[in-house]
Amino acid sequence: MQNFEFYCPTEIVFGKGAEDKLAEKIRQYGGTKVFLLYGGGSIEKSGLLKRIEDNLNEADIEFEAMGGVQPNPVLSFAREATAEALEFDADMVLAVGGGSVIDSAKAVAVGLANPDVDIAEYWEQGREIESCAPIGVVLTISAAGSETSDSAVLTIDGTGKKGGAHSDIIRPDFAIMNPELTFTLPPFQIACGVADILMHTLERYITHTEGNLFTDLVAEALMKNVIQQGRIAVANRKNYEAMSEIMWCGSVSHNGFTGLGREKEFSAHKLGHVLSGLYNVTHGASLTVMWPAWAKYVYEDNPERFAKYAEKVWGVNAGTVYERSRAGIRLTMEFFEQIGLPTNFTKLGIGVKNTEEIEKLADICTSNGTKKAGVFHPMDKKDVIAIYESVN
Ligand code: NZQ
Ligand code: ZN
Repeated sequence: MQNFEFYCPTEIVFGKGAEDKLAEKIRQYGGTKVFLLYGGGSIEKSGLLKRIEDNLNEADIEFEAMGGVQPNPVLSFAREATAEALEFDADMVLAVGGGSVIDSAKAVAVGLANPDVDIAEYWEQGREIESCAPIGVVLTISAAGSETSDSAVLTIDGTGKKGGAHSDIIRPDFAIMNPELTFTLPPFQIACGVADILMHTLERYITHTEGNLFTDLVAEALMKNVIQQGRIAVANRKNYEAMSEIMWCGSVSHNGFTGLGREKEFSAHKLGHVLSGLYNVTHGASLTVMWPAWAKYVYEDNPERFAKYAEKVWGVNAGTVYERSRAGIRLTMEFFEQIGLPTNFTKLGIGVKNTEEIEKLADICTSNGTKKAGVFHPMDKKDVIAIYESVN
């Protein structure tokens, strides 16, 4: 087991009616002027925005609401929102939505605490985040895990590159998580969320680090649960128990807990982010294309580890270690297809027509061939091209 530090202070308020505690939590974390950020309108349609606004008005909490965060959020919008929040003199950012809204809210919160710095410095140039305004979340989709994670991913306009900023400082202070708020999600978004949640733990699980038995057991339980409950949730979005299971797994899967004691892998995320940055495809769907392709390319580096995944999560006991490894990858791919998700570029809806385009993807992924991507099997540009070509 490698040394680790784990700091995940987000207070979770979970269950039916959890949003009734919103005003109380805002006060608890010092919010008096709240900048409420949301997405493209799902919360207007569902009536959630109106309920929250009424709630804040009743509690005499001053707020300003701004909608318009798009999926795969862009840095330029986060900048505009930061200017708006500074103008309003906000002392807390409240994200009502999913990963895209929460990540943008994290950027605004960093901007509020550092009014003299352009937030691009953190997302484009990797400047260290040293301070941030309080962040609250009302979660409406189980997926990215940003409600507890230390990350925020923004697309750098005009580059096709998704830039990530990472710091314990940007973990939200509180997250209101009522599974009923996810009942309005289209099945495709639920499935993408299920895939993302599975991947946040699976990408941490595939490792060369030996030992770490407790972390392995936690990870295996989470993955099995997400697969079982994910099938139920995709088939029936109003199944409260299944939606609760995936919501809670979503937060635990990406707060770091399921990977403690080992290095963080995330190759499929790196490969997938390039597709989302360039073609604006849904994050979870980019992963279901890239993880099987990546796994087939690298499993021979450590077939024992892939076979352990196949055995513990999928119950595969027969065959050689190589056969078991391949069976685990095949079953994962079949699961993605069964819940309606793509496993190649055509099904993802992108036509990568020629070698120049593949090369462009590989250049973004490897910073023009100057850096390797991933940890388990550090991928150079040639590796990345081969993996993209295998799903084209
Ligand atoms: O924008 P609205 O109208 O709200 O619609 C959203 C959006 O179209 C819709 N939606 C959300 N809740 C809904 C709903 N529709 C109906 N009913 C509801 N209750 O769902 C669509 C997707 O929303 P989004 O926030 O983009 O989803 P997700 O949570 O999957 O977030 C994806 C983003 O998070 C990043 C991804 O790269 C992507 O940009 N990630 C963030 C991470 C982090 N911060 O730790 C880690 C992840 O690996 C990921 O990279
Ligand atoms: Zn993800």
